[in-house]
Amino acid sequence: MNQEKEYQGYVGVFDSGVGGLSVLAELTRLMPQERFLYFGDSANAPYGNKPEAWVHDRAFAITEKLLSAGVKAVVIACNTATAAAVADLRAAYPHLPVIGIEPALKVAVSEHAGKHFLVMATTMTLQLEKYHALERKLHEAADFTPLPCRGLAARIEKGDLDGEDLHEMLSGFLGDYAGKTDGVVLGCTHYPLIRKQIRRVLGDVPLYDGGAGTAREVRRRLLEAGTLAPEGKEGCVVFRSSRTDGGTEKFYRDFYELALAAAGEEAL
Ligand code: DGL
Repeated sequence: MNQEKEYQGYVGVFDSGVGGLSVLAELTRLMPQERFLYFGDSANAPYGNKPEAWVHDRAFAITEKLLSAGVKAVVIACNTATAAAVADLRAAYPHLPVIGIEPALKVAVSEHAGKHFLVMATTMTLQLEKYHALERKLHEAADFTPLPCRGLAARIEKGDLDGEDLHEMLSGFLGDYAGKTDGVVLGCTHYPLIRKQIRRVLGDVPLYDGGAGTAREVRRRLLEAGTLAPEGKEGCVVFRSSRTDGGTEKFYRDFYELALAAAGEEAL
């Protein structure tokens, strides 16, 4: 007998922690009828300064976990894990829609060719070939300065996003560029959670992230696979994590609400 799995027909979404909630917010805004199973690996965050092979293997372990729960697609809501594992995951699971995220350089160029952009991301994202290949393709269209933000994702995981220490950290990374850049690519899914704090340092510059584009790609892939939930159905979001202290639901739900509000404001 074919036994129904607990999360049969859900879309699996994962990140090293709360960052992927900025992508989940775009997914649920676009597809309120879908059911999403979010896995945050907060016990192991951040990924950005771990060995590439470790992140690669962790992405496989989480994907297998999501698959055995019954998901119909996997969204890697993490630029770092996408860079480390998306190609191998697609090769290993040819029938599973696997959608990743990359720094939104193309969006920045399509809106403001010929300008200067900072690319904030983890050290690993900016070191791996996937990023270099993207930059090589676009370097004639705009000027990109990579800015590895070591420690920033881990600081965001701690919450208290209006804390003065976070402002000081951002001033350290960005202060020299105030008034000297035309926009910033947020190449880590944690960073759209602090758009307001980034603008406090840089002023009202355009900020680009891949969340909305990824959500559109997920919708396209589900349509193509014939598995998009019909409109009008009631969707939901379930949170799971590697945290062992029992605080998963509230921790993730609070960040998710914040991500939804931030995505709504940015879209205005
Ligand atoms: N949110 C992740 C990304 O998009 C990873 C941050 C981290 O864990 O270092 O790159």
